[in-house]
Amino acid sequence: MAFTLKRWLPVKVGEKESKQASRAIFPNAQRRTLLKVPQGRFLTRRNVLTAPEAQWLREQYVFTSPFFYLERAAMSLVGAVWMGIIGASWSLGVGLMLLGLVLWRLRDMLRAFAERAPLSGMPMTYMTFEALWGKLASSPLRLPMSEKALESGMPSEAVDKVLLVEKRVRERTVEIGRGITSLYLGEGFSWEAEKTRALYQLIDLPVSSLRVPAWVRAAYRYPPALASSAIGTPLLHGVGLREEKTMTHPIKSLGGGTLIVGTTQSGKGVMLTNLITQAIFRQEAVIVIDPKSSKRLRSAIRTACQKAGRRAPWEFHPAFPEESVRLDPLGSWSRPSEIASRLTAMLPPDQGIFNDFAWSAVNVLVNGLFYLTEKPTLVKLRHLLDGGIDNLLLRVMKKDLDERGPREWEADFNAMPYPTENRLGYPIPEVQKLAEFWESLYAETLRGPGPEVIHPLLAVYRHNRDHYAKITASLQPILAMLTTGSLGEMLSPGVMDEEDTRPVVTLERVLEAGDVLYLGLDALPDRVIAGALGNLLLSDLTSYTGKRYNRGTSGRSAARISLFVDETANVINQPMIELLNKGMEAGVHVTAAMQTVADLTAALGENCRAMQALGNFNNLIALRTKDGETQEFVLEAFGAAMVWSEGVALGSASMSEIVPTFRASITRTSSAKREALIPQEMLGKLPDGEFFASIAGGKIFKGRMPVVLDSAPEG
Ligand SMILES: Nc1ncnc2c1ncn2[C@@H]1O[C@H](COP(=O)(O)OP(=O)(O)OP(=O)(O)O)[C@@H](O)[C@H]1O
Ligand SMILES: [Mg+2]
Repeated sequence: MAFTLKRWLPVKVGEKESKQASRAIFPNAQRRTLLKVPQGRFLTRRNVLTAPEAQWLREQYVFTSPFFYLERAAMSLVGAVWMGIIGASWSLGVGLMLLGLVLWRLRDMLRAFAERAPLSGMPMTYMTFEALWGKLASSPLRLPMSEKALESGMPSEAVDKVLLVEKRVRERTVEIGRGITSLYLGEGFSWEAEKTRALYQLIDLPVSSLRVPAWVRAAYRYPPALASSAIGTPLLHGVGLREEKTMTHPIKSLGGGTLIVGTTQSGKGVMLTNLITQAIFRQEAVIVIDPKSSKRLRSAIRTACQKAGRRAPWEFHPAFPEESVRLDPLGSWSRPSEIASRLTAMLPPDQGIFNDFAWSAVNVLVNGLFYLTEKPTLVKLRHLLDGGIDNLLLRVMKKDLDERGPREWEADFNAMPYPTENRLGYPIPEVQKLAEFWESLYAETLRGPGPEVIHPLLAVYRHNRDHYAKITASLQPILAMLTTGSLGEMLSPGVMDEEDTRPVVTLERVLEAGDVLYLGLDALPDRVIAGALGNLLLSDLTSYTGKRYNRGTSGRSAARISLFVDETANVINQPMIELLNKGMEAGVHVTAAMQTVADLTAALGENCRAMQALGNFNNLIALRTKDGETQEFVLEAFGAAMVWSEGVALGSASMSEIVPTFRASITRTSSAKREALIPQEMLGKLPDGEFFASIAGGKIFKGRMPVVLDSAPEG
């Protein structure tokens, strides 16, 4: 603390000892402090004080109301006035001294106000899209004008001119956007051990005792304080509010993915909206997976695209099928086997060998369809899994016979002696007869595209039906839900479907065009299906990334693709972990928001897999978190710091002699211990939109993210 022992406690401690003790206990570096302590007065009234009492008194002093100084100034003023009334020359001198004291006390009061005013924290603030742009680019964001021009009923030549100017403005906006090199991380300050120490000093005090009147905040140009009814403590931001500035970070040095963790209503949506808006401003290809389909987010994305001079976002949104695009999740791949992987990625992760069987079962069907040059869609695969593969096998064998068989193979086949009924009197299907015919011709020929597809299909055909049903059982309900109703049409678009005018997109096409795709998944029948679809799309993205990587579009020069995932636990799967791990190389930058580590563990089956996934994030933004496991994860990422703690012991004794002599002693201990840089319980006391962040594994920041809005809210 900045005060010396003597100043703080007017007990008789030798001047020399006082200085020595002060120096020993508080080396210069420790002298800087948040609050100054006035000279004590209570302590002189009593001779015996126990340490807890002393501590209590100290707190009273440290946090005396600033009006205490006013009271003292007033007393001095009264003294000065009296001296003036007396009117003698000596009293005028004393009066002047007292007036000097008045000024001194007033100065102390102002200082106390200045130190205390920021401690009431900050409310949630708002910023317009233009203001956010202003934080990133040197020239202001120019707005589209054509709508106003058209509305105003201008002559058509004038409108043409306006449109031309607007085109140039848009091109310029795009150019400036591409040149943005930093990421805006909100308003805040860097959090060092000094802040931790200040926080430890204030943590146990009633927050109300630290509040200053609103006019004092206004006088120091702070906005209104965090409301006393608001969630969280204002102290966390308050201890550094005086140093608050705009926080930006060079995008290039961000590395790895960014994880946003926070309990419900802590501000994940606010943070994501802001970061997504920035990616849109930078003209990157953006994909947003929003399992909850937040209206606010969707409208912010639309506005951001419009302001950044970009094409409107593609929106896939089952709740509004008429407004939504159709999306083909199996539309792009580099190897056919990826399709089976994509489908089985939707299965629960802990089924091991069953998932492998399901993969082979789907892969066989996909290969069959490809052999027939048919596009696999979810609907087709579902029918094959449900209804059996007889028809597919039949067509595949016929095609192979057409291509390689004798010219009149059909006549030979029809002439082949074969029973029409089995022993129970049931008709024998054509496929069985054709299979034997095909085998009689090509039993030896195991090679070639036909046989390579037909042999596995035959194996499935002859496989025990019950067992096959068991293998594919877990896939069927998921496929059923993804292929029924309007969702079926939206996810299995037939190119020949002429009546349906909704555009068909694939992730690949969106990304190649550098567009924005919003996927709102909330309206799906249930969470499982939202998760399954999210999984499917993430697998699609992973395979696109692989393709891009193989094409040599990788490294830092690759055009950035920004993927934003809200409620990550709902959609995370192995492909997403791979994406986190290797996506950077192909220019895919992931920002994921989640609530708790436990959710992730549940989604991935095991804690170690959750940790593996979390290990891939290089940047952590921790909003308010409530559960212990998540808090510990956050604290581990933030590290520890030397935190000084102080102890005070006061003692006094009087000798039993005729002339009493008093002795007083004071013992102050100051010890340093490595402790968490942020007290764990404080993570649960962050107000809405406030966070601690560790960016690129380096410094720790305390920040708050303003809500981006089209226009500032009223009031
Ligand atoms: N555009 C906005 N205008 C006003 N307040 C907003 C806006 N966006 C968010 N908020 C407020 O910010 C707080 C955090 O909301 P946010 O949607 O970011 O929470 P979240 O962490 O995403 O929660 P959940 O887990 O429920 O999705 C809420 O109190 C919300 O009312
Ligand atoms: Mg949210």
